[in-house]
Amino acid sequence: MKNDSLEKVAAEIIGCPLCKLARTRRNAVPGEGQVSAKIMFIGEAPGRNEDEKGRPFVGYAGKILDELLKKAGIQRSEVFITNIVKCRPPDNRIPEDDEISACRPYLERQIALVGPKIICILGRTAYSSLLGGKSITASRGKIVKNGGRKYFLTIHPAATIYNKAMREVLEQDLSKLANEIKRLNSDDNNKDKPLEDFF
Ligand code: URA
Repeated sequence: MKNDSLEKVAAEIIGCPLCKLARTRRNAVPGEGQVSAKIMFIGEAPGRNEDEKGRPFVGYAGKILDELLKKAGIQRSEVFITNIVKCRPPDNRIPEDDEISACRPYLERQIALVGPKIICILGRTAYSSLLGGKSITASRGKIVKNGGRKYFLTIHPAATIYNKAMREVLEQDLSKLANEIKRLNSDDNNKDKPLEDFF
């Protein structure tokens, strides 16, 4: 889209009337981060705290994500974080197909504008809606290529809230992601090693 910008996308999301979530949200949550970000994180949907503040991952799952990003040596300020749907589903239910489809063009524009080297999929909803994948626990830790994009698959931080073993899994995955980014940065001519194709 000509003359598009992250600010323009965010303004449209904030006033978006396209699905029923617009009637129950307090604030839409476009996402945040640098247009130059090398990594883009995509979660499921805003929760209560995000809906209150209009910012992504600022509740308990966000605290976990922040802590594990820090441990992996990734600054939150150097990534772009958003969600599959930009408005909170009532009672934090899983977003429905019509909501995901209505929101998809916003996400596509954000991906096109940021042009991340790698997209980190957080959890099942992002995995199924972006790649048609079924079990994120079976596929986590993998880097896959699809439609000219590179994805890193991992679990949702909320899945680690009461589960120490899962927290360790997410910690390992994010450290693997950090290594991949280091590798991509140090090899900007991009003699990529062959990737596992998704389908
Ligand atoms: N969970 C998500 O998937 N996204 C957020 O922004 C917060 C919690």
